[in-house]
Amino acid sequence: MSTTYKVAVVVGSLRKDSMNRKLAQALSKLAPASLQLSIVEIGDLPLFNQDHEGNPSQPVIDFKQAIKSANAVLFVTPEYNRSVPGVLKNAIDTGSRPYGQSAWSGKPGAVISVSPGAIGGFGANHHLRQVLASVNVPTMPQPEAYIGNGSKLFDDSGALADPSTGEFLKKFLIAFDQWIERNI
Ligand code: FNR
Repeated sequence: MSTTYKVAVVVGSLRKDSMNRKLAQALSKLAPASLQLSIVEIGDLPLFNQDHEGNPSQPVIDFKQAIKSANAVLFVTPEYNRSVPGVLKNAIDTGSRPYGQSAWSGKPGAVISVSPGAIGGFGANHHLRQVLASVNVPTMPQPEAYIGNGSKLFDDSGALADPSTGEFLKKFLIAFDQWIERNI
């Protein structure tokens, strides 16, 4: 019997027309049948305050539950000032607490960064890997995915403009499937 892995996709942008969100949506369609991708929203999470970690609000409870119920986590993020957007760091910190009750620990992970710039969010991608090491998410080292020139990623119909991007992402997702299998 073949296994299907549930993958929680966390998008590091709240922007309505986010290129990262569009890519996250495209990934669901490119994924092999063994991966079931769904976006877990982070926009309703309050700013993390350690005073409240023992008495979490409903959005925090729901977010942690969504991550816990997934087999793996995929981060699709822009770069802000050469690092991870604050909203994404807030979501990771929120999911990691209280101490000993992290939603992240042990979930195999992967990172894709998307930027309109030429270096494809390299800084954010690697800062995120540092954070994921701290929350015990074994993160796929290869293939790396720094998607540059993001404003040209999609055509007017919303489809990926360059078929080679789709081919690369399919290979990325197959490698992630194998990474999950090895690390789950
Ligand atoms: C940016 N942007 C950006 N881009 C980049 O490649 N490197 C960077 O360091 C930054 N820094 C940065 C800081 C802040 C505060 C903002 C708002 C933006 C540009 C960013 O890549 C662009 O806005 C993308 O469109 C954001 O991704 P989404 O929202 O389209 O997914």
